[in-house]
Amino acid sequence: MFVLQEIRKDLESGLPVLLYDFDGREEEVDMVFYGGSVTWKTVQTLRKEAGGLICYATGKREAELLGLPFQTEIMRSIPSLSRLVKRPVYGDEPAFSLWVNHRKTRTGISDEDRALTISSLHRVVETLKSDVEEARETFYQDFYTPGHVPILVSRGLEKRKGHTEMSVKLMEAVGLEKSVVLAEMLGDGRSMGKEEAKRFAKHNGFHFLEGIQVIKVISP
Ligand code: 5RP
Ligand code: CA
Ligand code: ZN
Repeated sequence: MFVLQEIRKDLESGLPVLLYDFDGREEEVDMVFYGGSVTWKTVQTLRKEAGGLICYATGKREAELLGLPFQTEIMRSIPSLSRLVKRPVYGDEPAFSLWVNHRKTRTGISDEDRALTISSLHRVVETLKSDVEEARETFYQDFYTPGHVPILVSRGLEKRKGHTEMSVKLMEAVGLEKSVVLAEMLGDGRSMGKEEAKRFAKHNGFHFLEGIQVIKVISP
């Protein structure tokens, strides 16, 4: 069993945790960082060492307070586009909400720009705890869409068992904000396999967790 306090220390000091979902689901490993510890170097690491889509993830309640819809809800509301709403082969409804940029970014894509967008999103989520109105006002003033950082929204592990739900739950379990940045680990032409990702984690001194372990820690 892994040690939650060690994981918290790693996340707070800007180190990632590698998270495998489940056999029979995506069977992918995501590199996961805490949203509160993001710098441009985090984005560079995600881009170079992970290689997948760099996303920000938060909780359902946080998304509701900010008025963030799921992308699928938006598409369903437009009759001509609703036929495009389908499920991926492993079955889950996607976790995507809006794609945003902070208004002070230049194009939005550089490591520095994405780090600014992500760390500003983190501050908005953090502010929700003390002042919902201020958080909402900052969000609508300081961001625009479409942008270069997709926001993923957790539906909770009871409803969906994606990297989104697992990583957000992990933050909660270690006592951090529901604020995550993640990307899939890619290998040569395909997603990196579980065993290769485990070797990568060991080599770099990162924690490697499987979804099943996350669930055990949450409800042992
Ligand atoms: C965004 C994704 C990835 O799978 C990511 O791991 C988060 O999604 P999920 O919750 O579906 O696992 O779709 O690149
Ligand atoms: Ca997915
Ligand atoms: Zn995933």
